[in-house]
Amino acid sequence: PLVSMRQLLDHAADYQYGLPAFNVNNLEQMRAIMLAADRTDSPVIVQASAGARAYAGAPFLRHLILAAIEEFPHLPIVMHQDHGTSPAICQRAIQLGFSSVMMDGSLLDNGKTPADYDYNVHVTRTVTDFAHACGVSVEGELGCLGSLETGSAGEEDGVGAEGTLDHSQMLTDPEEAAAFVAATGVDALAIAIGTSHGAYKFSKPPTGDTLAIDRIRQIHTRLPNTHLVMHGSSSVPQDWLKTINDHGGDIAETWGVPVPEIVEGIRHGVRKINIDTDLRLAATGAIRRAFATHRDEFDPRKYLGKATEAMRDICIARYEAFGAAGMA
Ligand code: G3H
Ligand code: 13P
Ligand code: ZN
Repeated sequence: PLVSMRQLLDHAADYQYGLPAFNVNNLEQMRAIMLAADRTDSPVIVQASAGARAYAGAPFLRHLILAAIEEFPHLPIVMHQDHGTSPAICQRAIQLGFSSVMMDGSLLDNGKTPADYDYNVHVTRTVTDFAHACGVSVEGELGCLGSLETGSAGEEDGVGAEGTLDHSQMLTDPEEAAAFVAATGVDALAIAIGTSHGAYKFSKPPTGDTLAIDRIRQIHTRLPNTHLVMHGSSSVPQDWLKTINDHGGDIAETWGVPVPEIVEGIRHGVRKINIDTDLRLAATGAIRRAFATHRDEFDPRKYLGKATEAMRDICIARYEAFGAAGMA
């Protein structure tokens, strides 16, 4: 059934596990996530970004998720809007039937310019007021995602600050987080700890200087009852990078957030872990390999089927590693 995010995150906190939240744009991703959740008996959070709506169109996205709910009635599913840039966008998502919305007031409504604290509180409070009146959960964000190596937000094409960020903007302050949660009433709080969207997060395996897992512990100590959210949490599997590059791809050396670091975050209050890039990499690697090895094949179901299997296996691994398996 369709459930709110609050219901799942409260359960995750009670039983000390984390839930991967996968982005969806298309049928293959949606089916991969559900096949994995079904196999591991995991609760599901699927999220749609503005880019997803632009690609698939709101009605197709909505019905894609509704179809998952219909086909897997035994699994709890959250239909979450990722990175809403304004209260109006969140309101529209609620009207479409989303059970959870993110109001990302860390950036202005162009999705690019870092916003000040008062703006963030104002837009986020506006959303919690109307969303909670509808039984819909709200995720807020305090701090800007960005690379502590370079000061850039990472993602070229989509969600993320433009220009250079300073170090303090990219690390959520625990005291400010406590004030923000009290002022806004959010159900979950996305924090900045040095991760960024997309494949190019770290130029080498992250260390405590580039990935501030310790900051999670400090925020959790100050806010023990707030569900924390990690964005930009793809692990960027080296084996999929190699498969892509071995079959005609050209992706530069890059590193993601190691699964054990995420598991450490889960020990300190992280309940929702956003993952998009890993499924993109697995799908691309599987399709490149299928094209190279079956050059006479032209039925999209064959190579898209390989993409579905590859994405499914990433989802299974994350459900198991984060402790969500068996929790549906
Ligand atoms: O928030 C970041 C996600 O990876 C969404 O990306 O805007 O390209 O759909 P997108
Ligand atoms: P990745 O790009 O690391 O998969 O992050 C996705 C995300 O944070 C979506 O909101
Ligand atoms: Zn994000």
